[in-house]
Amino acid sequence: MEHIYPIFDKMLTRADKENLLGQRGLMVWFTGLSGSGKSTIAIALERELQKRGLLCRILDGDNIRSGINNNLGFSEEDRIENIRRIAEVGKLFVDTGIITIAAFISPNNALREMAANIIGKNDFMEIYVSTPLEECERRDVKGLYAKARRGEIKNFTGISAPFEAPVHPALSIDTSKLSVEESVAELLKLILPKIRIN
Ligand code: PPS
Repeated sequence: MEHIYPIFDKMLTRADKENLLGQRGLMVWFTGLSGSGKSTIAIALERELQKRGLLCRILDGDNIRSGINNNLGFSEEDRIENIRRIAEVGKLFVDTGIITIAAFISPNNALREMAANIIGKNDFMEIYVSTPLEECERRDVKGLYAKARRGEIKNFTGISAPFEAPVHPALSIDTSKLSVEESVAELLKLILPKIRIN
């Protein structure tokens, strides 16, 4: 049946939202080992973008694995489903014009490729937090590496489950060499030109 007010059933577009916000949507996807510094950099990046009047949304273990993905563990199958759902949720934010910052181990190229395909390759920027395993294990912020070494955690990335480095990341950040401020400065150089509206 034809609508009496056809204009009312036309959904606003992504461009409408981006014009409202004065920014373009983008997914900034951090990958790297547990304890590599993904979340720390994500939080600092969000603050710097917000200071510049840019709206962001961080997706990380704290708000995803505790909620929408709280039925998932760390088997290969569950990690696929974890990343698939994150990518689908992330796409909704990106399509709303929001700079979306995802911080997940996402341990192999196939997983990250799946995320990029769901979100759209033009909207997906892969950032490798390449801090070496030895440094992540030395920090062992949550004590998980020690547990994994003792065999108390199975399938722990870097110890008893694989991590595959990205092939062509937009940027690699080794937090044992760069400070958080330096890392964010590098990121801003890459990100700001992509999210400006002319
Ligand atoms: S994944 O591989 O992308 O699905 O992992 P992710 O959702 O990023 O979750 C990683 C955090 O979960 C904790 N944790 C584990 N990590 C890896 N392997 C195993 N088996 C595991 N069990 C629990 C760990 O604290 C990771 O935290 P981060 O924030 O990455 O340090």
